Amino acid sequence: PYPVWQRMRDEKPLYYNERYDFFALSRYEDVSPALTDWQTYRSGKGSVLEIIRANVEIPPGVILFEDPPRHDIHRSLLARVFTPKKMTALEPKVREFTTRCLDPLVEGGEFDFVRHLGAQMPMRTIGFLLGIPESDQEAIRDQIDRSMNLEHSTAQDVYDDEFLSGSMFADYIDWRARHPSDDLMTELLTAEFEDETGTVRRLTRAEILTYVTLLTGAGNETTTRLIGWTGKLLAAHPDQRRQLAADHSLIPNAIEEILRYEAPSPIQARYVAQDVELHGQTVPEGSVMALLNASANRDDRHFDSGDTFDIRRKIDRHLTFGYGIHFCLGAALARLEGRVALDEVLNRWADWEIDWPNAKMAHTSTTRGWERLPALVR
Ligand code: HEM
Repeated sequence: PYPVWQRMRDEKPLYYNERYDFFALSRYEDVSPALTDWQTYRSGKGSVLEIIRANVEIPPGVILFEDPPRHDIHRSLLARVFTPKKMTALEPKVREFTTRCLDPLVEGGEFDFVRHLGAQMPMRTIGFLLGIPESDQEAIRDQIDRSMNLEHSTAQDVYDDEFLSGSMFADYIDWRARHPSDDLMTELLTAEFEDETGTVRRLTRAEILTYVTLLTGAGNETTTRLIGWTGKLLAAHPDQRRQLAADHSLIPNAIEEILRYEAPSPIQARYVAQDVELHGQTVPEGSVMALLNASANRDDRHFDSGDTFDIRRKIDRHLTFGYGIHFCLGAALARLEGRVALDEVLNRWADWEIDWPNAKMAHTSTTRGWERLPALVR
């Protein structure tokens, strides 16, 4: 249980933090409609508290930080090339990569859910999607990990230099332009669309960089955390783990429950664009609002015994991937990765215990989860 969220839901459903000057909503019945009300709760100044505060100039194409109509133009273009069919087609490659990560560890000893699998699979998957040669993928992932770690840089650094310029992909884009293939990058290079001025054109190199960096920024660390939480939660619930090992058809719902129970991206921040009445109080225009989707996912008012982990639970729409116009574009891909990871782990080991003295939580501004999660596997 998370006692602070519980108290917020019960005692201060509209919470105000004086020190950092922001409001927060924590109940499902408040967070869910706020996520869909983009006219009041805007993303155009960023959807991370630090970014909104830093007042950073956001280039077109970072749809996570855009409002309609701009958001919808860019999102529909991305959605056109980033299709469920493309994601499903990646499954054999994702499975093969997982096998390569796990097989050397089968002989026994310690398997780290994050270091040996979770930290590698998401970037590899996005790499497969984009058609990036495997030999270049490691370097790109290191650069992203560094840029996302706010312990070592400020929001301004992160979102100006590395994240938004996407410098690490520049060479690859130029190479792919000369060597077209059947990957997402080639489609981004050749797709035609109607821009804000009504002109039909192709994406510029700068716009492609933005898109690609967005996909890695949004899809990498979040999915790493999902795989870590999978190891942690199933270690804590050995009965449910054994049920899963005996019946792999339970895996998709188990992944859904893991997503509900420990949302890797627990807070979506918004800029309040007009005065709004909530729980008898006025939240003034210009405020910053934190929408605690991870807390909403535990709300007993919506989920029976929200703090109980149950892989057989019938889940009535968790908010881990957000909701409304910004609903996660990569949700199907994240689910696929979680499913394949768990399936392949259970194919090798039905039992594990976490080596707690060597486990470590990750510290970043946007995600919550494990950075190290070594397990003794059997
Ligand atoms: C949006 C969570 C994986 C790409 C979002 C949002 C959430 C989220 C909460 C909405 C943010 C908001 O409302 O402000 C997650 C979680 C993941 C995951 C928990 C893994 C477990 C991925 C993957 C990709 C991806 C694998 C792509 C490769 C995106 C994009 C958006 C987004 C492009 C922006 C959509 C928009 O603004 O219209 N994600 N995500 N995500 N996600 Fe994910």
